Amino acid sequence: MYLPSDDTFLLAESVKCYKGKSALEIGVGSGTILKVLHENYKIVVGTDLDIGSLLYCKENLSNDLILACCDASSTFRYRFDLIVFNPPYLPVDDNEKKDSAIHGGPCGMETTLHFINSAISLLDAGGKMLIVTSSLSYSTKLDELILQNKLKSREIREAKLFFETLTVFEISFK
Ligand SMILES: C[S@@+](CC[C@H](N)C(=O)[O-])C[C@H]1O[C@@H](n2cnc3c(N)ncnc32)[C@H](O)[C@@H]1O
Repeated sequence: MYLPSDDTFLLAESVKCYKGKSALEIGVGSGTILKVLHENYKIVVGTDLDIGSLLYCKENLSNDLILACCDASSTFRYRFDLIVFNPPYLPVDDNEKKDSAIHGGPCGMETTLHFINSAISLLDAGGKMLIVTSSLSYSTKLDELILQNKLKSREIREAKLFFETLTVFEISFK
């Protein structure tokens, strides 16, 4: 299970500024972000591929969270006001060495793009997506995906660490 780190706390701080009816987190890990969402949203849904993370959330968080073990948001056919994720973003060349809690593919960005593609059809027309990116992954493909899908993005928070810069982007429909 991914333990909360700088990226988790940066997203948690960002999420605190949003309120609404329904929220989805893709890749819940230990549930730090779910807890914050639960304070401001009536319906809170979380997914992860890692069953251990989901069992940990089930034991330690509120009973009224909806948790699903699935790839990205593939189980759901519902519109959310807010969709958030702190995806695995470290680049890895060797697929056999890939740890899906931290590695996002050869550019580091592949899992992020997969999460966005999975989530677009679940985002309410006026909804927002919050995503964490790192200077350690290559962002060109993210810019392309935003353009192709007529989305817009704005930077809402940044943390400069000694080995990387983390940024939270808010993505929404134009
Ligand atoms: C960097 S961790 C973030 C965990 C937590 N949200 C946090 O901020 O501490 C990424 C999480 O995404 C999950 N994950 C990776 N690939 C996934 C996929 N295809 N579908 C759902 N979850 C996935 C991992 O198991 C891991 O829990």
